[in-house]
Amino acid sequence: MKILNFGSLNIDLFYHVARFASAGETIDSLSYQKNIGGKGLNQSVALSRAGGKVFHAGNVGADGDFLVNYLQSAGVDTHLIGRSEIPSGNAVIQIDPNGQNCILLYGGANRQVTEQQIDRVLSEFVAGDWLILQNEINQMDTIITKAHEKGMQIVLNPSPFAGCSDLPLDLVDWFIMNEHESAQLAGQTDQQAILSALVKRFPNARFVMTLGGDGSVYFDGQVCHRQGTYPVEVVDTTGAGDTFTGFFFASVAAGKPVPQAMELAARAASIAISRMGAAPSIPTLQEVL
Ligand code: RIB
Repeated sequence: MKILNFGSLNIDLFYHVARFASAGETIDSLSYQKNIGGKGLNQSVALSRAGGKVFHAGNVGADGDFLVNYLQSAGVDTHLIGRSEIPSGNAVIQIDPNGQNCILLYGGANRQVTEQQIDRVLSEFVAGDWLILQNEINQMDTIITKAHEKGMQIVLNPSPFAGCSDLPLDLVDWFIMNEHESAQLAGQTDQQAILSALVKRFPNARFVMTLGGDGSVYFDGQVCHRQGTYPVEVVDTTGAGDTFTGFFFASVAAGKPVPQAMELAARAASIAISRMGAAPSIPTLQEVL
């Protein structure tokens, strides 16, 4: 069974700050680091480090070879990544002293996906294969519709949330998202009301809600399972959700029960937040075990 991740690859520009800049203000940063990231790339790295056979599809510019090389060295198949004349996507990331972040995105090459590319990519996959998606590339509606026609299992991480409500969400098999994205999707704020609204609106889907320091919850209308976190010193939370997503779905795709997959994913995400950076902070399976 193959896992296709059709998603972003970003150059992450990290700035440590005493506090986030506000409107109209110029502040000094305490440090700068250029790093490897993108929700798509991070999730592919996590899927692969967790033991999944992962194919990454997407686009980079002439400045993005090091992103592709990094994926390759993490064991990800990169032959479906295209080259664009537009620069690679990038993210300007402020990190505060508590390890919390504030991210500004430039889509760049990530937003150059064409219908022709989608057809070429999907022709290598069959019914039962997994498709993992985030919301940092264009043509999301076409990818979801065509993958569903093929009978692929579709996982959506609706992040960033903007525009997700307009996607053909009834075709999604699994949603994995944080509390804010869950609230936006459900149109509710209280956690119990969110769960009820989601199950009512998408009766055939399964949901995983990540709750930061409060852990995570799985629900599908019948079963509800909660998972805690492992206490660590927080250095940088960037990419923690991507680490959780990759470890969780590599385990579920390999046939592991949901509680086991959630526990492994929680351990991996805890390790990730104890280190700096997005992709480079993602542990290997051996380390997690
Ligand atoms: O989820 C973390 C990622 O979000 C960062 O690596 C950054 O590139 C943004 O896409």
